Amino acid sequence: MDKREFQNLIKTAEKKLDAAGIESPTAEVEIILEHLLDVERLNLYLHGAQLIDENILGKFREIVDRRITRYPLQYILGEAWFYGRRFKVTPAVMIPTPETEILCELAINYITNEALVCPDILDIGVGSGVISVTVAAELPDARLTAIDISAEALEVARQNAVALGQSGRIEFVRSNGFESLSESRKFDLVLSNPPYIAEDEYKSLPTEVLADPKISLVSEDEGLDFIRLLIKESPRYLKEKGRLMFEIGYDQADKIMELTRDDNRYRSLSIIKDLNEIDRVVILSI
Ligand SMILES: C[S@@+](CC[C@H](N)C(=O)[O-])C[C@H]1O[C@@H](n2cnc3c(N)ncnc32)[C@H](O)[C@@H]1O
Repeated sequence: MDKREFQNLIKTAEKKLDAAGIESPTAEVEIILEHLLDVERLNLYLHGAQLIDENILGKFREIVDRRITRYPLQYILGEAWFYGRRFKVTPAVMIPTPETEILCELAINYITNEALVCPDILDIGVGSGVISVTVAAELPDARLTAIDISAEALEVARQNAVALGQSGRIEFVRSNGFESLSESRKFDLVLSNPPYIAEDEYKSLPTEVLADPKISLVSEDEGLDFIRLLIKESPRYLKEKGRLMFEIGYDQADKIMELTRDDNRYRSLSIIKDLNEIDRVVILSI
């Protein structure tokens, strides 16, 4: 294919994605081609035209046609990027979001600043494993326990831990909340990106988000049921001066303050905003 044909291929695909209401058509076309040609962005524009053949062209068209149905690109490609690493994703796990990188960064900074040696960290609702695997990769002496109620999600997380060289320090446990965890287990940090969407809000989520497993998004009691459990149970599993850190929905900060106001097991509460100035992570210290 010559360079002009290649440019036309890109432009036509961008137009199709744009017409389907996809937010960043250029970025998505680049991601598809980078995936198919196994090159980085710079090489895509330098060498893409030479690398493309009939087989790849066919796959490219198939992916674009699937994507215009608004099925998430990450599920189509079977992968998502998180904290600079490539993770396998299947429809059994939620597609990780950039906001969760903030939770990871806070956890990593906390352990590093406190100079905790061989910290024990619990990740409840591991999904694809992005939090556990990232924290394990960034903190080489950390020991992770990763819980999920979904056996399929645990299998994906396990595969990601192996692929990214972190399986040795992550123990995977199938459990409904803390149920299968012995109370003798104590952690420096409990982390969670819990399901926190209210059933009422669920129906109005973008089409792409509705492709995530419902169990990873929705929680009863206006989205607060799982968070309530985290607040209630975590102190029993935390070491002295341990912390609970979890992600919240844009309008949940006040409710969290209310939920913890009379709980004197917690010494302090902070709410951290994301890059869009939206309340995103709660930190509770015991
Ligand atoms: C919002 S997703 C987070 C996934 C991943 N940690 C991330 O940040 O991308 C929530 C996860 O919690 C799991 N989950 C939901 N209810 C649960 C329960 N009662 N006990 C354990 N895990 C649960 C879901 O299966 C899902 O994988």
